[in-house]
Amino acid sequence: MSELSEKTKEQIRAHFDHYPTKQAVTLPALHMVHDEKRCVSKKAISEIADLLELAPSQVHDTLSFYGYFRTEEAPCGEKRVWVCRSLPCMLRGGEELLAELCDRWGIQPGQTTPDGKVTLELAECLGACDGAPCILVGDELSLRMTADSVEEQVKK
Ligand code: FES
Repeated sequence: MSELSEKTKEQIRAHFDHYPTKQAVTLPALHMVHDEKRCVSKKAISEIADLLELAPSQVHDTLSFYGYFRTEEAPCGEKRVWVCRSLPCMLRGGEELLAELCDRWGIQPGQTTPDGKVTLELAECLGACDGAPCILVGDELSLRMTADSVEEQVKK
């Protein structure tokens, strides 16, 4: 059975006309698979490689270059919460916010809650320092956060 859905395969193929080579579609393909599965498994790497006419090691090289992608050994939770750890956010309460979230969820950055609902991540500057402390939940940026407002955001 295929790891990638037909829909994801079609989405990947739809990018071929927009890039100079199939290899250039590696990063978008990894994002599409990660969005669908919350990780990129070894089987998915192999199937992406087949679609892009590459060796699996070439796809893996791209995957492992970025800290963003999760493997099947440690998939993301349903929500991925990125807490900014750069200096302006840390000076304006980010450090306490991070400590409180670790305490409430019983996990450390990089880990997922046992119920699989939330993965806590550290982010570098999110480009909104005047709203520190900032977080991302998925693709949504939120400013001036407290542990309570983060939990509300996660529940949305
Ligand atoms: Fe956190 Fe810039 S330091 S958004």
